[in-house]
Amino acid sequence: MSKLVSGAFAIFIFALCYSMMLPIVAAFHPSGYYSRLVSLPSPSSIPTDRWYRCRDRTTSSQTILFMGKSGNKKKKNSAGKKSTSTGKGFSAAIATEGPIDRFPYAGSVRPGNQSPQRKVILSSEASREFLPDYALDGRPKKGSNMPLLPWVIEVKKPDEIEKMRAAGKLAREILDLGGRAVKPGVTTDEIDTVVHEAIIEAGAYPSPLNYHGFPKSCCTSVNEVICHGIPDDRKLNEGDLVNVDITVYLNGYHGDCSEMFVVGSIDEQGKALLQATYDCWIKACEFVKPGRDYKELGAIMEDHIVPRGFSSVRNFCGHGIGSVFHTTPNILHYRNNEPNGQMATRHTFTIEPMICEGSAKVLNWPDDWTATTVDGKRSAQFEHTLVITPDGVEAMTCKNENSMLQFWEKESEVYKGFWLGSSEDAKRRAEAINSKILEL
Ligand code: MF3
Ligand code: CO
Ligand code: CO
Repeated sequence: MSKLVSGAFAIFIFALCYSMMLPIVAAFHPSGYYSRLVSLPSPSSIPTDRWYRCRDRTTSSQTILFMGKSGNKKKKNSAGKKSTSTGKGFSAAIATEGPIDRFPYAGSVRPGNQSPQRKVILSSEASREFLPDYALDGRPKKGSNMPLLPWVIEVKKPDEIEKMRAAGKLAREILDLGGRAVKPGVTTDEIDTVVHEAIIEAGAYPSPLNYHGFPKSCCTSVNEVICHGIPDDRKLNEGDLVNVDITVYLNGYHGDCSEMFVVGSIDEQGKALLQATYDCWIKACEFVKPGRDYKELGAIMEDHIVPRGFSSVRNFCGHGIGSVFHTTPNILHYRNNEPNGQMATRHTFTIEPMICEGSAKVLNWPDDWTATTVDGKRSAQFEHTLVITPDGVEAMTCKNENSMLQFWEKESEVYKGFWLGSSEDAKRRAEAINSKILEL
């Protein structure tokens, strides 16, 4: 009898497991062949704590979905009332007009409409390691529960360095792809789509997606947006300066880089901002070698940009990176005396200065992500993931022979051509590429 019961129980458990496995089993790549990661659009995963403008799929008109958290009951009720006169079906949830946005934006960039957040699911149980630990619930676990001493920095093992090189190389390829999509009339959401699909196709995960709840797969920061701009339906305009920031998670390791792209032609002041930002960044990168202090990097960057009339953002910093997205060392982009440790071979970290035309003070948007300047003036940023070698430093996210040569690389007073690093090996590789691209 007890055998019968346990047999039935085993069958029940098997059926339960099997049904839970179905979406995983069914999750093969749309193009037909097996892929480790599959991404699905997921309207249900839209953050639920405020009004979100969403594209109505049936009519392609703009509608506004309201999905209230219990804490926001009051807002929800008044909105629901308003929508009942116009809506049908989703009438309680959909309104044709949203509340007037009275947020005191600093410049002319406004939040646009976000498309639903994508979900990435695994195509087999075995490949769990291909999702970072925050992918499903938005909360990073590893390296985030313990307060790290700022001077304690992980030295990566040689096999980890190899995986990070692969992640860095992919991040660069994706950044180049995203950058080629930058054109007048293109929306930042379209750039996000290109980036997202290429990362999944490469068997990697777009690190920003659901990182602390971030809604998209990359950051697109236009003009006065300093960083963490959320891709949306805003079209790029002639003259816009946009930073595209790409991070990929490949085989358990993150690679992080960003670059500026100019939409059409550029004014003189914008040109000076981009040149100064690029040059201070390369100067800082060139300074890196074993035995030096991380705190020295800030002054190197400020000493380049301040005499040119620009300012450096203090609220965001560069960071250690590896199997964890953000860890020690903290890289401050302004003069400081913080005990942020000493550089050593096989440290991996980013330098990513945000340089402003006017004030470097930050205005945070109600979306809890977008950071703009307080005066609405523009900000620029570049970022590499770097690895320290015995004889200097190398950019794991360096450009390759197919990358786009930008004017600030051609006209730099610090380094002409693609900068690959200061190690002997990096200089040799750079010479081979730059001798070709600079003569054109
Ligand atoms: N890529 C950014 C950085 O350079 C971080 C983006 S986190 C996100 O550190 F959640 F905003 F995407
Ligand atoms: Co980045
Ligand atoms: Co970074």
